[in-house]
Amino acid sequence: MTGTATPTIDVHLTADDLRAALENDVRVGLTAEAKWLPPVWFYDDRGSALFDEITRLEEYYPTRAERALLEAHAAEIAARSGADTLVELGSGTSDKSRVLLDAFLAAGSLRRYVPLDVSDGTLWTAANELVREYPGLEVHAVVGDFDRHIGLIPSEGRRMVAFLGSTIGNFYPEHRRRFLFDLDCTMAHGDSFLLGTDLIKDEKKLIAAYDDAAGVTAEFNRNVLHVLNRELHADFRPERFQHVALWNEEEHRIEMRLRSLEDQRVPIADLDLEVSFPVGEDLLTEISTKFTREGVEAELFEAGFIVDAMWEAPEGEFLLTLATPYC
Ligand code: SAH
Ligand code: AVI
Repeated sequence: MTGTATPTIDVHLTADDLRAALENDVRVGLTAEAKWLPPVWFYDDRGSALFDEITRLEEYYPTRAERALLEAHAAEIAARSGADTLVELGSGTSDKSRVLLDAFLAAGSLRRYVPLDVSDGTLWTAANELVREYPGLEVHAVVGDFDRHIGLIPSEGRRMVAFLGSTIGNFYPEHRRRFLFDLDCTMAHGDSFLLGTDLIKDEKKLIAAYDDAAGVTAEFNRNVLHVLNRELHADFRPERFQHVALWNEEEHRIEMRLRSLEDQRVPIADLDLEVSFPVGEDLLTEISTKFTREGVEAELFEAGFIVDAMWEAPEGEFLLTLATPYC
């Protein structure tokens, strides 16, 4: 392989796009009867660093379990997919991706890695580290939104698209359907899809993973308020909101909320808006859906994918699924 000293970076999200999307989400979400915000706004540089810290917490088993699955099965995944291009959606630090990169390189097929993430600083750092660590690997990073820019990802080569970490669990069911369907539409014959999903398990273990003893997840949750203060000149006092992680049994998902500890009115200067939070009111900041094997297979099938293989971590901790489009 020939070497390249710097990554290529495509930017599909400008500061203006992000600003417009943030303004819209905050206006809609914070004026709704049940207040909510999409989780994408957690991930400024501080939020990405906090997430990285979460992945190393004792209580947060998903990253460890998924990494162990990758370590055990990456060679088989590389052989089955035969891909020369590894695309990764929501790649973050690309930490676990290195396990896949090593296996694909050992298999001799890999030419290109295409990480896509909305968090440009984290993506930029990861892409620069990767070109140094993997001389000869073409790193083509994409600053983009996986909801809007999948169709703009470089399409050359035989691709395996990886969506790890159970980030798909942060989508509501209709969002998952649309996302999987859109992804399927961009895939060519011979491409494959590697999906990481967290599984339904003991409630105590789930809650602990989202409400750790050191309070890192609480800080990650409150980070969205710091983002709104900085970006929209809002005046949230993060310490006046309690981090709450609930298990919603019916929808089989963890819900992260910020609960107002007092009656408060929060001005958001740039939107010329003031939002009231009565004591005890929740702002829903993230859902983290947990799955069953059958559910994953059914959702993939509905979107046009057939499952090739599934690998489950001991005690049903986590699931990796390799699928291909069936038409
Ligand atoms: N895949 C990594 C990181 C998961 S954290 C892992 O498994 O550990 C979720 C990642 O998705 C973050 O890096 C975040 O910046 C990114 N992300 C969140 N919403 C996004 C969106 N709408 N489009 C693109 N990336 C997004
Ligand atoms: C990125 N995503 C899959 C994580 C999750 O587990 O839902 C985000 C996270 N939220 C709290 N802890 C981790």
